[in-house]
Amino acid sequence: MKISGKTQVYGILGYPVKHSLSPVFQNASFEYFSVDAVYVPFEVEPKNFNTAFLGLKALGVKGVNITLPFKERALELCDLLDEHAKQIGAVNTVKFENQIEGYNTDWIGFLKALKDLEGDIKNKKVLVLGAGGTSKAVFYALSKEGCYVYVWNRTIQKALELAERFSLHVVGNPEDVLDDVDIIVNTTSVGLSERDPHLFDYEKIRENHTVFDVIYKRTPLLEKALEKGAKAQDGLIMLLYQGIESFRIWTNMEVPLSVVKESLSSYILN
Ligand code: ATR
Repeated sequence: MKISGKTQVYGILGYPVKHSLSPVFQNASFEYFSVDAVYVPFEVEPKNFNTAFLGLKALGVKGVNITLPFKERALELCDLLDEHAKQIGAVNTVKFENQIEGYNTDWIGFLKALKDLEGDIKNKKVLVLGAGGTSKAVFYALSKEGCYVYVWNRTIQKALELAERFSLHVVGNPEDVLDDVDIIVNTTSVGLSERDPHLFDYEKIRENHTVFDVIYKRTPLLEKALEKGAKAQDGLIMLLYQGIESFRIWTNMEVPLSVVKESLSSYILN
């Protein structure tokens, strides 16, 4: 890629952001369409977020993704919000026009990745583990699809706080509803480390369960699901689909999943 005086700048704001895969596949997407643009990581200390965010517009940056821990703060600073971002309460995609436009594409990424695995999910019963930041996009997508959603969270109060807004059925123990659900979604950070506890007895996963983990790797939960013959998927495809959707918001162009996937596999292999 050659940078010139006309090169447009895009990026991602987060803290930390060094391990983000978005710069890899978003730059591959610009290259695929021969767009003169570059996508760069911006690691911003929380105390500097407002200055950095508003400074992007002053610098003529065209668009950014927002990741942890800034998705709620970004929402506050946008002039316009799409309906989904408003309902989820978080912005992961920003387009800088005359006004600052905030979008959420996490829910689309989740829905597309889940549908690739499961097909139609209308009226399915789902158990969501976790009620943190990532969960809101998941709850929104599932309730939009008409799923019956159970939620379990270590701190039950957080689940109760979101229950009415997203029509959730709060459970005190995941195992109480395992036999009743078609799909299990992990939105907690449990499984990132080998030393993490198990969220329930994973031996109870059945072959006809579908297990989706938003973590980008094969967690013990996913390992056990595969061992049991269940369908299982990690969060990488979800990340790619949310990125494809952000790219479409910025450029009006839709990059094929195969292109972004390939950019990443060569990156990971290297
Ligand atoms: P994110 O924005 O990535 O979702 P978060 O808002 O900190 O991050 O949420 C992390 C989620 O993982 C929460 O649901 C959290 O449960 P609590 O609300 O009880 O903190 C969950 N989590 C983290 N560690 C956990 C553990 N050891 N056991 C169960 N849940 C855990």
